[in-house]
Amino acid sequence: MDLYEYQARDMFESHGVPVLQGIIADTAEEAEAAARSIGTPVVVVKAQVKTGGRGKAGGVKVAKSPEEARAAAEAILGLDIKGHTVHRVMVAAGAQIEEEYYFSVLLDRANRSYLAMCSYEGGMEIEQLAEERPEALAKVEVDPAVGITLDVARRIVAEANFPADVAERVAPVLVTLYGVFEKEDATLVEVNPLVQTADGAIVALDGKVTLDENAEFRHEGHAALEDKAAADPLEAKAKESDLNYVKLDGQVGIIGNGAGLVMSTLDVVAYAGEQFGGVKPANFLDIGGGASAEVMAAGLDVILGDDDVKSVFVNVFGGITACDAVANGIVQALAILGDAATKPLVVRLDGNNVDEGRQILADAAHPLVTVVDTMDEAAAKAAELAAA
Ligand SMILES: Nc1ncnc2c1ncn2[C@@H]1O[C@H](COP(=O)(O)OP(=O)(O)OP(=O)(O)O)[C@@H](O)[C@H]1O
Ligand SMILES: [Mg+2]
Repeated sequence: MDLYEYQARDMFESHGVPVLQGIIADTAEEAEAAARSIGTPVVVVKAQVKTGGRGKAGGVKVAKSPEEARAAAEAILGLDIKGHTVHRVMVAAGAQIEEEYYFSVLLDRANRSYLAMCSYEGGMEIEQLAEERPEALAKVEVDPAVGITLDVARRIVAEANFPADVAERVAPVLVTLYGVFEKEDATLVEVNPLVQTADGAIVALDGKVTLDENAEFRHEGHAALEDKAAADPLEAKAKESDLNYVKLDGQVGIIGNGAGLVMSTLDVVAYAGEQFGGVKPANFLDIGGGASAEVMAAGLDVILGDDDVKSVFVNVFGGITACDAVANGIVQALAILGDAATKPLVVRLDGNNVDEGRQILADAAHPLVTVVDTMDEAAAKAAELAAA
């Protein structure tokens, strides 16, 4: 889960990372009041969207009075930044910037390790810096068992060619930023820019934090950071039932067991759909190993709630939960849903107890259900029904 800048700012503050005062505002009036309450001669009004490059898109504006802050917020609220509409701004105290640096620490899956990146030349887009002047971006592997101690932090800033006096002030800030990364179970903490102000203080002026959702159970506060309004309503509903569901933009609803099988189901449906005017899968949904009637019903309920869905492909490989149990699950799920089940279902079962499973579906003879033996044929049937 990615955080908004203001959420990252608050999290930084709670861990002792130096930040400036910031107040969120959903209207221009609130922005004016926020600027007045902050009271610094200059404030910066910043779009709160989960995408980079806000500055270039006109989403970061300096204001020299509360009235200017109001006008800035008026200009920023409603702005479209790379497909994200701005609904909220943060009014931040203005910093007198002497120098801008870059720092990030992230989970480096490929190396089964953490990676710290740091540059004495912040401010510009880091992707551009990495490409044009890779030598200016220090990359230091961080041993997760050690973390970023003061020694490690000194090595990072030395490798990024910070002059000695600045290095001594920046290193402790990297230690606290690593504290955020570790204690909050983040997979990314990025500060661009980390600045030195006119009075020599080191301050995080921007913050990007990605939290590891697998660790949510360890952090009582993390669920509240989720932006429910911005989440897809179907995805939110699926999450309530603990379903692994991702909304896509096609017409064939997909239910399968096991992420690998579901991924390949998406592929075969997209391939089959080419013959039917470009029909595509409408979602990813993995109902996991224990495909009980309740889970099947919850999954079907989510998929049938998607107005774009014209047909549903249930693709299950019977393993620990055998095909007869899955078939009973489908029959019971349809009974649970009753009139809410309105779209044709193509079911392909294979694996453990496949004959019993197919027999159960044949006996039930539900008018919406078509049983097809192979995955390719089932995908073609589902695509055909979706195109009809
Ligand atoms: N509180 C502040 N005081 C003074 N200047 C600021 C402040 N916040 C940001 N700036 C200036 O605005 C620039 C852009 O701000 P910021 O890094 O937050 O947005 P961005 O880089 O455009 O967005 P993103 O990081 O999402 O790509 C900074 O590099 C800095 O020069
Ligand atoms: Mg930035």
